[in-house]
Amino acid sequence: MIVKVSDSNIKDAANVYMLSWKESHKEICSAEFIKKHDIEYMTEFIKNKIRNNYDIFIDYDNTKPVGIIGINLLDEEICLLYVHPKEQGKGFGSELLEFALSRCKDPYITVLDTNTKAIDFYKKRGFVPAEKQPEKAEDKQIFERKYVYRSENM
Ligand SMILES: CC(C)(COP(=O)(O)OP(=O)(O)OC[C@H]1O[C@@H](n2cnc3c(N)ncnc32)[C@H](O)[C@@H]1OP(=O)(O)O)[C@@H](O)C(=O)NCCC(=O)NCCS
Repeated sequence: MIVKVSDSNIKDAANVYMLSWKESHKEICSAEFIKKHDIEYMTEFIKNKIRNNYDIFIDYDNTKPVGIIGINLLDEEICLLYVHPKEQGKGFGSELLEFALSRCKDPYITVLDTNTKAIDFYKKRGFVPAEKQPEKAEDKQIFERKYVYRSENM
């Protein structure tokens, strides 16, 4: 069951986000940077998104929190798709993405070029690289690419 994140369930959302983020970033970030992303940091990050026009949703398998996703209500960016490491490969990511897509007209996502698993996942579900890509910041080692949704690719 997918529900909106609010004060009552934000800790569940922050915990899933923390575990999934740590797992997916452990190869590309320093141990110090990983450690900084504790439950308080993730809670504050989600709160900040909500304050800045994002709706965040959490998926429960019965009572177990299994994944989160965010939608920017102003420009329809779909973001923060994170499934608990132990629950990946069971369809929850697809369920969350379909849920978000059903609430958007012209959504986009950005993904790190190194995240090949997520890129394959999004491409299989109708996303293609955007024609206009964000400028690469001088100090950024890893490029974040923008993808737009084209339902005809499904
Ligand atoms: C990318 C991600 C959201 C996908 O969520 P998920 O719940 O694993 O997705 P699903 O189970 O719906 O589908 C996963 C796909 O991988 C396959 N798969 C099989 N075993 C798997 C496993 N152990 N783990 C992950 N995927 C597996 C599934 O069959 C499916 O294949 P398909 O694309 O051919 O249909 C999830 O892997 C994740 O949270 N990754 C870390 C965070 C991340 O990178 N987020 C994206 C940031 S932009």
